[in-house]
Amino acid sequence: MEAIGAVKGFKDILPDETPRWRQVEERARRVFSSFGFREIRVPLLERTELFRRGIGEATDIVEKEMYTFLDRGDEYLTLRPEATASIMRAYIEHHLYAADPVAKLYTIGPMFRRERPQKGRFRQFHQIDVEILGLDDPRVDAELILMLAHFLREVRIEDYEIEVNSLGCPRCRPSFRAAVVAHLKGREGDLCPDCRRRLDTNPLRTFDCKVPGCGEIVADAPLIPDYLCPDCKRHFDDFCRYLELFSLRHRLNPKMVRGLDYYTKTAFEVTTTLLGAQNAVAGGGRYDGLIRTLGGPDVPGIGFAVGMERLLSLMPPDGAGEEPFVFLAALGERAQETAYLICNRLRLRGVWAETDYSGKGLKAQLKRADKLGCPFAVILGDRELDEGRAIWRDMEGGDQRQIDLKTLDDFIFATYTERSK
Ligand code: HAM
Repeated sequence: MEAIGAVKGFKDILPDETPRWRQVEERARRVFSSFGFREIRVPLLERTELFRRGIGEATDIVEKEMYTFLDRGDEYLTLRPEATASIMRAYIEHHLYAADPVAKLYTIGPMFRRERPQKGRFRQFHQIDVEILGLDDPRVDAELILMLAHFLREVRIEDYEIEVNSLGCPRCRPSFRAAVVAHLKGREGDLCPDCRRRLDTNPLRTFDCKVPGCGEIVADAPLIPDYLCPDCKRHFDDFCRYLELFSLRHRLNPKMVRGLDYYTKTAFEVTTTLLGAQNAVAGGGRYDGLIRTLGGPDVPGIGFAVGMERLLSLMPPDGAGEEPFVFLAALGERAQETAYLICNRLRLRGVWAETDYSGKGLKAQLKRADKLGCPFAVILGDRELDEGRAIWRDMEGGDQRQIDLKTLDDFIFATYTERSK
């Protein structure tokens, strides 16, 4: 019968890969908790309206990338394309602001966007998403980047650039937008159909368009830093000054507009040249009006999300793999039974042990221990058993020594504890 494959753009994460995934997640948790963040877990499915209103109608995500379906003829539901809108919904729904308007939250999990799959781009991908609600100080913006850079160092990623921009606020953006529209009008014929269509609804999207013709047209377009109101300008200057105080190298990218419409003021991306076309490892920014747009109080916010697949593809290899600690090789029926019992006693004490169930010869068993990557093996024959001892073998150097069977469990446990320090 024909085998059934996974859905296009959806990937399995195989056992060889999961240790690295966990390592990244654990480091993220550790770093975030020292900055005062707490975990929130939100559903994968939300009402479609949440993303339409949150992310914006005239964005690629909402126009063409959402997995949306009509649930039993009742209402439209969507697999979350990002986590920010969901976290805002939860913050509003559970009145998290009532106890303390300041909330520092993070979540880790899969997101879904029906994009064209390519290197570094999937239809199900994973994000580490971080949000700070209730603070609009530029120091908070810089602190968030500091935490992101610290996290990247913890996962040994160094070759990246921090690009920053300000997207202004509802006070200054209209004049910028009008200037962009004025620039694009008259050259409409040279714009791609998407950009032409969005000229009225979302003209800033042209800045993000990958079609070469559109790129040429925006090359000399007006730039938002020239249009910022005094408040936004001060916020951005302070933000950059604090980045400098932390020695966080960054580059102003005045054409960065981000792909989601909720952003105000600070916007940033972490990019690298090592990923080909999909060069953003992380992206985020401030979204001071989002919570109100979603029916909540007037609480400002800022956050970012790291793309885990992209992050993992940049991480240098290391010994994050997992191996059993000890292999119990046994020859003869009685020895096999003893090995089986020791093996499971060790497991109950938290030591990963493996043994043989095939009855193969000693050479084959040690070969398997080697293949599994066990640093140690125990060799047990009926003769050793009669003499109340076992052979302890260092798999790397091949050194062997005798250990009293009565103390073997404790000896292995102590060696394991010593090595895990
Ligand atoms: P975003 O820029 O759409 O922002 O996504 C953040 C990161 O997710 C990207 O930089 C990229 O690494 C990864 N990513 C996005 N799409 C894909 C894909 N199809 N395949 C693989 N990786 C992908 C957001 O999602 C915002 N919610 C971030 C944020 C949080 N802003 C404020 N708070």
